[in-house]
Amino acid sequence: MSTFDERNLLPETLPGKPMHLAKDWFDKTCEKKWQPNPNAMTLSTVDNKNTPSSRIVLCKYFVPDPGYIVFFTNYNSRKGKEIRENPEVSLVFHWDNIGRQARIKGRAIYSPSSESDKYFASRNRGSQISAWGSNQSQTILSRNDLIKQMNDKLNEYDSPGTQNEKEIPRPPHWGGIRVWAHEIELWMDGENRVHDRARWTRKLEINKDNSFSVSKWTGTRLQP
Ligand SMILES: Cc1cc2nc3c(=O)[nH]c(=O)nc-3n(C[C@H](O)[C@H](O)[C@H](O)COP(=O)(O)O)c2cc1C
Repeated sequence: MSTFDERNLLPETLPGKPMHLAKDWFDKTCEKKWQPNPNAMTLSTVDNKNTPSSRIVLCKYFVPDPGYIVFFTNYNSRKGKEIRENPEVSLVFHWDNIGRQARIKGRAIYSPSSESDKYFASRNRGSQISAWGSNQSQTILSRNDLIKQMNDKLNEYDSPGTQNEKEIPRPPHWGGIRVWAHEIELWMDGENRVHDRARWTRKLEINKDNSFSVSKWTGTRLQP
């Protein structure tokens, strides 16, 4: 082995806008279709007994400035309940095909209803019905019971045997959650496991309209 390969790593002087860099990686993987769900991310929440739980959700908006990420879900789900108990959450993207990882810690807050309405209206009818038909994270006796529950909802909005389709409103318990980042760590795969890592932090202060005022990012390199 002569020297370590320094191709394609983070710039020597760390950029002041790490969310923009992560967004470039996100856009590139989405555009190139390098993996089936490049917008999939692991969301971890912590309940009121300090027990963590993680699951995959899809990032629907990545907004580098002022710096939040939006996913959509059922507010009555386990994650919804845990976020109400403790809005501190973490997110991880793993873009395997380009050897990159982005870890984000942030504060979760409901999207404005205009954002949730707009996104819900863009979903196909089947997905709109299933937002009504599934009490996400609740138990159900059987798959058949679930299908019946869905069909009952379908019949409420589509008159059986006719072409009449009513507009489906957004369920009040379903919508967006914005995760306002206060920490981001970017990781790039390096040769011989000499990866490149850097972590940035900033302060968030909540405003009256449930947005946040943000300070500048401060970044530092980490050993792999
Ligand atoms: C690829 C993939 C994408 C998913 N996207 C979402 C999503 O955007 N929103 C959501 O609520 N659940 C999504 N899920 C399901 C969640 O992982 C999870 O099962 C569900 O939200 C219930 O989680 P909870 O009981 O912890 O609230 C997705 C699962 C996978 C595998």
